[in-house]
Amino acid sequence: MTQLDTRSVHAGRDDLTALGVHVPPIDLSTTYPLPGVERGGASYDQLALGNGPGGGSLVYQRLWNPNVARLEEALAELEHCDGAVAFGSGMAALSACLLATVAADRPHVVGVRPLYGGSDHLLSTGLLGTAVSWVSPGDIADAIQPDTGLVLVETPANPTVELVDIADAVRQANGVPVLVDNTFATPVLQQPALQGATLVLHSATKYLGGHGDVMGGVVAANTEWTARLRQVRALTGGLLHPLAAYELHRGLQTLPVRIRAQQASAAKVADWLSTHPAVDKVFYPGLPECDPLGLVGRQQAGPGAVLAFTTSGGYEVAARVAASLRLITHAVSLGGVDTLIQHPAGLTHRLVAEHAKPDAGLLRLSIGLEDPEDLTNDLTQALS
Ligand SMILES: Cc1ncc(COP(=O)(O)O)c(C=O)c1O
Repeated sequence: MTQLDTRSVHAGRDDLTALGVHVPPIDLSTTYPLPGVERGGASYDQLALGNGPGGGSLVYQRLWNPNVARLEEALAELEHCDGAVAFGSGMAALSACLLATVAADRPHVVGVRPLYGGSDHLLSTGLLGTAVSWVSPGDIADAIQPDTGLVLVETPANPTVELVDIADAVRQANGVPVLVDNTFATPVLQQPALQGATLVLHSATKYLGGHGDVMGGVVAANTEWTARLRQVRALTGGLLHPLAAYELHRGLQTLPVRIRAQQASAAKVADWLSTHPAVDKVFYPGLPECDPLGLVGRQQAGPGAVLAFTTSGGYEVAARVAASLRLITHAVSLGGVDTLIQHPAGLTHRLVAEHAKPDAGLLRLSIGLEDPEDLTNDLTQALS
């Protein structure tokens, strides 16, 4: 097997030369000509069960699309999973996992905080029929019940980039499927399935796309789970559009170089912030105090490109810093080629229960591909 950088470029494209093309053809068909009612119906059955089309008709875009399938094949390969299922957003991907869990009659979910605010809110409201127990990473085992269908972990976690030992979470889950949100690390730095995770979720909107211009979500898993998730997708319609799939598939080709370059700058910015007199605390897995379990280098190949920090002036100063930056954009989301800053308690984690909300003085930075000195110059003027 070739290396990750090579597969990022070629995965999901191995048939292109035989097809006589250099990039994947885009198929925008919403429907497909059928060979006859009987054979068309047989194809429909296969696809509705969550299986691939085999040699049969693709029937309807909600059941199968070749560009979406290429992205799924590529992501599955990078994550060392049997398959993957793509959705219209990260939240649609998570919703499908929760619906599949409820459908299996095990609606109790163990959520390890912190999580992305939207995931936290979806679980806290029980909108999809789940009931959540919130725990810290060491208390997963105690929270497992006979009807627990899922353990949900994010590592590095949004927004404080805290790390969770995936293998330990899997051990504690004791056979209950563990879903790892791998959005921040990406398969370049971490492949949770190799640590025993059953489901690996991405907000593809972030690093996989990488340019802030496409939304998507994807879950990598074994064959049984991917069939189950495709069934949910076919019924609920949380589809990824073929053009979005094309863009995300293209994004994978530069993912390793983007991640490494952004990570190198993030390490410099984190070091710089650590010595700034107006900064109270920096959260970055590359700083030894933020990785007490020594997971960087063991579970995760590098610390990544997201960091957070608090200023000594609390909310007032944080809000002023966010508003005063000129090069760095004040905006939610992360993982793109340009650096973004946002205030989690006021924005991405606004709907999280008060006692579990991030610190009011916390700002989250997603480091892009700019020269790090230009970023620290911008931070200098804003912090002053
Ligand atoms: C870690 C994480 N998971 C999931 C999501 C949800 O993804 P999306 O916004 O693509 O629906 C986000 C969004 O910020 C996220 O940061």
